[in-house]
Order: sequence, then C-alpha cells, then structure tokens
Amino acid sequence: MDKRPIGVFDSGVGGLTVVKQVMKVLPNEDIIYFGDTARVPYGSKSKETVKKFSSQIIRFLITKEVKAIIIACNTVSSNCYEELTEEFDIPIIEVVGPGVSSCVSITKNKKVGVIGTEATIRSKAYEKKLKAIDSEISVYSKACPLFVPIAEEGLGESEIAVLTAKEYLKELVQMNIDCIILGCTHYPLLKSCIAKVVGENVKIVDPAMATAQKMKSFLKENNMLNDKKGGDYCFYASDVADNFDSICTTVLNRIYKAKQADIEKY
Ligand code: DGL
Repeated sequence: MDKRPIGVFDSGVGGLTVVKQVMKVLPNEDIIYFGDTARVPYGSKSKETVKKFSSQIIRFLITKEVKAIIIACNTVSSNCYEELTEEFDIPIIEVVGPGVSSCVSITKNKKVGVIGTEATIRSKAYEKKLKAIDSEISVYSKACPLFVPIAEEGLGESEIAVLTAKEYLKELVQMNIDCIILGCTHYPLLKSCIAKVVGENVKIVDPAMATAQKMKSFLKENNMLNDKKGGDYCFYASDVADNFDSICTTVLNRIYKAKQADIEKY
C-alpha cells in the first residue's frame, strides 16, 4: 500500500480529460495535476523544448512526493517518453501505447485515422506502434493544431469547433476509416463536434480510459494502491487564469481552484 498521490501533467487543460478517467478507475487515489498553461501549446514546439518543459514539470511533481506519474499529453508521450524514463527513477505511464491497444481491438477494416498536434503527427509514434502490432493496418494521420486553442478557450462545442473539424477532417472521412484516435488529450473536449463530422460509423478512440486502467494495473501489481476511501485532488497551473478553473469545472463536474506554480524554478 502506498498513500502518496499520483502526478498527472499536460501542457494545459487537456490532461483533465485523463484525470476524469483516473478519478473513475482509481477513486481512492489522490491526484496532483499540473497544467503548463503559461507555455501551451507544446504541439508546435521542438522536441528539445518539450523535453525541457516536461523535465521541469516532473521535478516539480517529485517535490509533491508523487508515487507515479501519468504523462497526460500525447506530444510529450510521443516525442520524449523514453528520454524521460531514462532521466527519472519514478514510474511514468504515457498515453500513446494505451491508445494504440484500444484502437487495435476496435478496428475491423484496419483503416485507422489518427489526429494530434503537429509534433505528435511528425513523430509517427502512433503509426509505428500500430504497424508494429498489425502491419496490415493503414494509418491516415492529420495534425489539427487549432483544436488546442479552441479547447483552451472553452469553445469545444461551438460552431467554430464544428467548422474547424470539417476543414481538418475532410480528407480522413474520405478514406473509409472505421475508427479515429484522439491523439491529443485536448481533443475529447471537441468530441461531439468530431463525432458529427466523422459520422456514426467511425468509432472515436480516446486513450484516457485505457491509460487510467494501465496505471491501476501497475499500482496493483506493485502493491502501491491507496487503501483509504475517496481521493483528494490538487491542481496547479503555470499561469492561473479564470478559464482553467472554468474548464476544470466543466470537465470534472466540480469546482476546483488551481494554484500557481513557478515552473521555471524547477
Ligand atoms: N494536450 C496535448 C497533447 O495531448 C498537447 C497540446 C499542445 O499543447 O499543443 O498532445
């Protein structure tokens, strides 16, 4: 048994969609969340910068005595997961592997769409992992950078989101894909618009649930589950703006107030 919290981080509010699933799957775990709202987006930055920011956040979370960390960001997971596991001793779980496993069990016609940030799509992480499991899978990828500011602004269900999704996804829908991976943790905030555009025959794969399950299996296997009742949650952001709290409330159905953390110090 291990009473320490789980650390979860993202470039901004996107990782809250992962926190939501962790709260469901691991209701007795405490969570410390960090959203790098001052430096979002990560998707248009270089691998070196994303790695530097991620290392700072992990050092910050370690000062909060977390027992394990979830990288609730596809950009970090697909570009620097290996380097981060080499740099830090703490158990780290990422989101790409769980997303790939879910997708492989869902696709029937083996035509898969992957959407994510520019850095995630450029890394080809999803494509490589999907093809490593099943070389017959065809992967159609598309970077959708504008989805991130739309989600950060709380406009995930607006007409702007629908128009943007139509523009980005028009080629993918012509490829006869039967599932689409939301390869960015911000994108579940636009899920209903994406669903409208791709149509009901395309299954939407959000890696968040499988990621939370993976953390649960890890904690169980290592006898690290918390045995108390209920979880305590603490949210930090590098720039505490009102919209972080309001998106937090929308996603998690409860009012939380984020605290400011000076991440450049770490
Ligand atoms: N939510 C992040 C992801 O899953 C990053 C979005 C961004 O900062 O560009 O990729």
